[in-house]
Amino acid sequence: MVSLALLMFALFAIGYGAVKVNAATSENRGRNTMSDAQINIFKEHKVLIAYFSWSGNTRKIAREIQQKIGGDIFEIVPVKNYGTDFHAAVEEARKELAANARPPLKNRVANIKDYDVVFIGFPNWVGTLPMPVHTFLEQYSFEGKTVIPFCTHGSGGLGDTVESLKKSLGNINILEPLSLGREEIDGDRDKITDWLNALKIPAAANAAQGNNANTPIEIVINGKKIKGILNDTPEAATFRAMLPQTVSMGAFGGREYYGDIKERINDTTQGKLNFADGDITYCPSNNTVAIFYAQTSRPNLTMRVITIGKVTDDLLIFHNLSDSVNMTFSIANKIEGEQTL
Ligand SMILES: Cc1cc2nc3c(=O)[nH]c(=O)nc-3n(C[C@H](O)[C@H](O)[C@H](O)COP(=O)(O)O)c2cc1C
Repeated sequence: MVSLALLMFALFAIGYGAVKVNAATSENRGRNTMSDAQINIFKEHKVLIAYFSWSGNTRKIAREIQQKIGGDIFEIVPVKNYGTDFHAAVEEARKELAANARPPLKNRVANIKDYDVVFIGFPNWVGTLPMPVHTFLEQYSFEGKTVIPFCTHGSGGLGDTVESLKKSLGNINILEPLSLGREEIDGDRDKITDWLNALKIPAAANAAQGNNANTPIEIVINGKKIKGILNDTPEAATFRAMLPQTVSMGAFGGREYYGDIKERINDTTQGKLNFADGDITYCPSNNTVAIFYAQTSRPNLTMRVITIGKVTDDLLIFHNLSDSVNMTFSIANKIEGEQTL
């Protein structure tokens, strides 16, 4: 067993230095189309695409899945920094595996109970699931959900990543995994599309994601575009009518950015004194919008806020901003064929 593991490791380590990157051109992108029927099935579900990625391969695939089928994306970010040196990262991964460690994570999925289809992406690390993914799996209940693994790897293939995931999740419906070698990351997309098209997604218990009245928006922060939605509510509609709008946002409490908007919104909704990560809210007391990005030890608000939308991209960007930053909210340009929430 040990010698098999060593052989697998040697094989992948040899392959690591020779990463062949194929440019993604329209020729090698192949068919690259999702079937309408399958897209409609995904639309009936509330989809989360959670992933861990050290060098970016798995992140790329997570984003492509989101582009093809919609859904919310979440990066599993360990508190520990694995550095940029490959050999040091391998050493650390080995130590964590030997210790059966559960490295703490920086972030949490705000409302995991809302999702009924959860993609979980990870690289093969020393033949198995990276330990931060174990931490992630153990933080939530996946009961009643459909879990869909995807793995990127070197020459070791899936290794025992999926077996390990199955062991951790127990009696959960886990569908066929996608296994992508790192030389395939920038290549032909048919493998991803064919896999997505073939997934047997159970009928939706509710049509959580089928609310097409939501408006896709973009928020530009320091030149970076992140995606979100505005809800189908009167307050959100009033805000939508004010877009595009640049709001000077200030950091507050390690949990939110908020700023004054040009005109008042006539509020008819009661609002709430708490928040979920990713919430875009309107506060009638001070005529501000806010984006909440992290729960803290003080999750209760002193002023009532009304949820008007949600950031659907990764919230990590908000952890690394200066205290004062301009955010430009606008209605997203719908690209032909693009899936929006
Ligand atoms: C710490 C570490 C351990 C790895 N162990 C393996 C392995 O045992 N087998 C394998 O095939 N690839 C292994 N790899 C290669 C990665 O699985 C592969 O490059 C993957 O696509 C990286 O995904 P990421 O860019 O999302 O981090 C390892 C990479 C790292 C950084």
